[in-house]
Amino acid sequence: MPIIHRLLSFCLLTHAVIRGTNASEWAFSTLATIPLALRSPYLNIWTGSSTTPQWPTLWNKTVCGASWPGLVRVDGISYWWQGTERRSDLAQIVPGSIQMSPTRTRFQTVAGPVQLNITFLSPIEPTDWVKQSFPFSYFAIDVSSRDGQKHDIQLYSQISGELLAVDYAQEVTFNTVLTSQSIFHSLRKIEPSHFDKAAETSEDGTLYLGALNQHEISWQSGNCGVALDEFAANGTLLNEQDPNNTRKIIDDNSWVCLSLAYNFGSISSTSSPVVWALGLVREPSIRTVTAKGTELRSSYFWTKYPKIDLAIDDFLADYEEASKRAQTLDMKIVGDGNDISQSYADLLAFSARPVFGAIHITVARTSPTTLDSSDVKVYMKDVGNSSRSNAVDVLFSAFPAFLYLDVKLAGLLLEPLLAFQSSSQYHNNYSASGLGKCFQPLLPRYLISIDCSLRHCFSFCLYSVWSMLIMTLAHARKSGDGTLCKRYYSLLKIWADYLGANALDNDSLSGPRSSLTEFIVDFAIIF
Ligand SMILES: *[C@@H]1O[C@H](CO)[C@@H](O)[C@H](O)[C@H]1NC(C)=O
Ligand SMILES: *[C@@H]1O[C@H](CO)[C@@H](O)[C@H](O)[C@H]1NC(C)=O
Ligand SMILES: *[C@@H]1O[C@H](CO)[C@@H](O)[C@H](O)[C@H]1NC(C)=O
Ligand SMILES: *[C@@H]1O[C@H](CO)[C@@H](O)[C@H](O)[C@H]1NC(C)=O
Ligand SMILES: *[C@@H]1O[C@H](CO)[C@@H](O)[C@H](O)[C@H]1NC(C)=O
Ligand SMILES: *[C@@H]1O[C@H](CO)[C@@H](O)[C@H](O)[C@H]1NC(C)=O
Ligand SMILES: *[C@@H]1O[C@H](CO)[C@@H](O)[C@H](O)[C@H]1NC(C)=O
Repeated sequence: MPIIHRLLSFCLLTHAVIRGTNASEWAFSTLATIPLALRSPYLNIWTGSSTTPQWPTLWNKTVCGASWPGLVRVDGISYWWQGTERRSDLAQIVPGSIQMSPTRTRFQTVAGPVQLNITFLSPIEPTDWVKQSFPFSYFAIDVSSRDGQKHDIQLYSQISGELLAVDYAQEVTFNTVLTSQSIFHSLRKIEPSHFDKAAETSEDGTLYLGALNQHEISWQSGNCGVALDEFAANGTLLNEQDPNNTRKIIDDNSWVCLSLAYNFGSISSTSSPVVWALGLVREPSIRTVTAKGTELRSSYFWTKYPKIDLAIDDFLADYEEASKRAQTLDMKIVGDGNDISQSYADLLAFSARPVFGAIHITVARTSPTTLDSSDVKVYMKDVGNSSRSNAVDVLFSAFPAFLYLDVKLAGLLLEPLLAFQSSSQYHNNYSASGLGKCFQPLLPRYLISIDCSLRHCFSFCLYSVWSMLIMTLAHARKSGDGTLCKRYYSLLKIWADYLGANALDNDSLSGPRSSLTEFIVDFAIIF
């Protein structure tokens, strides 16, 4: 049955593209978890659907939380808008509402005499791979007075080192940079373990928290509690880095944190959204094996930005435009979804960020200082289920989103699978079910392959083969570009022959008979 659903969404999406009308950008959601910052498999932060502030977590709560508190200080009283701890000097925000669009989550809440709109934007930037591959997410806050009076307002955000390792005894170091436009902190492990097999955290990432250098901004880094106390007491930070900037993520019960605060003084509302950027950068971002050997790959955005400073400045300065692009995209997706049904629009609004937040758009690094921007490959992690990369079943489910938003990405996701399997290192006559753990450790075998002669694996084999054939054909039809079909014709032919020779054999198909029938019917419907 799942295959029917998947193909159904494919048909619906294709249909929706044709009809396309505009409606609201917001969808309604009753989901248990709400996305906050989803820009890579490692910057993948969620929160519960309660409208009272809580602690966000990485997608897998068991692995780690994301200590990412936020405060607003109104007339000397500080309120949590994110995170929560029982402290008599801090007040709780009044629970409000949550809205979700494909790219944004917005909380509307009340803190004493002011209203707060908090927007988390994880941009989806179809066709702009520099922007799409930049692993940063925005959060922005609007404050307005509820009683018409002016109030003394300060805003605060802080991130701890929790996202950087599973083992909090790891040593980290931090630094703060003031560029001409912005202030940003960075935090990383002293000894990053690249492609570590440690579960789902990055272990080799650098965490960033930045904001534009405007209004009255202040910063602090080091002990989390010290910075938070300073803000709660005085509404500003000390513009100081703890001189002891080499320490453990948690040391003597004190966590390491990066903090930024804005002081607006007495205002009735903020004139424009107050914007922060949260990022987690891994370099290299992919390790893979090609027919030529092991290869390290870097995120695409480095082709434009040799230094991260410039990339962060541009990202922060671009918020207003990014927000407009997001709104246009949201209206398109939700509008097309609403043409089918409201539930379908909700489903699309929910799935867009997880799909685009699971990919890495990469280029080959040819030397420590040079990138080959013509060699682009895209990798998608099976976030939340396995460490597989470009897993055929997962890719198949997500494929309509790429066909709909950026068909070139669809081809670039298929290419690593096709390229390796057409090399002399691959011997089976059927498709593998995905690449190995390109995000983390290398498997002894590069491809996750299955032994199709085993009876219980057989239907999965057929499934991988027909999924690959359908995706390759769908990409060619949607893009009008037959390059993949041409380049990998002999491989595709071997797979098609395999289907022909095996798929109709009743004896070997005692179980999967019904899925085979489904496949043939669906295939006939689509093409
Ligand atoms: C917050 O959102 C509400 C509802 O969309 C809107 O009416 C209000 O103007 C917003 N407030 C600010 C300060 O943007
Ligand atoms: C707040 O400001 C006062 C006065 O400048 C200072 O004495 C104090 O150390 C500051 N921090 C805290 C946490 O009270
Ligand atoms: C740095 O701080 C940690 C605890 O936060 C402490 O264990 C260590 O001794 C400090 N090092 C120096 C040089 O002060
Ligand atoms: C989350 O991580 C834990 C610890 O590594 C693991 O046992 C669990 O299966 C993971 N949950 C999911 C949904 O993958
Ligand atoms: C999770 O991954 C396993 C292989 O690791 C696969 O058999 C299974 O179908 C996947 N489940 C989902 C829901 O994708
Ligand atoms: C693959 O198919 C070819 C003929 O198309 C055949 O010669 C070869 O033995 C097959 N390989 C395997 C591993 O079944
Ligand atoms: C295949 O199985 C179906 C249903 O069990 C049966 O009707 C059909 O005759 C079989 N075909 C062959 C070629 O054995």
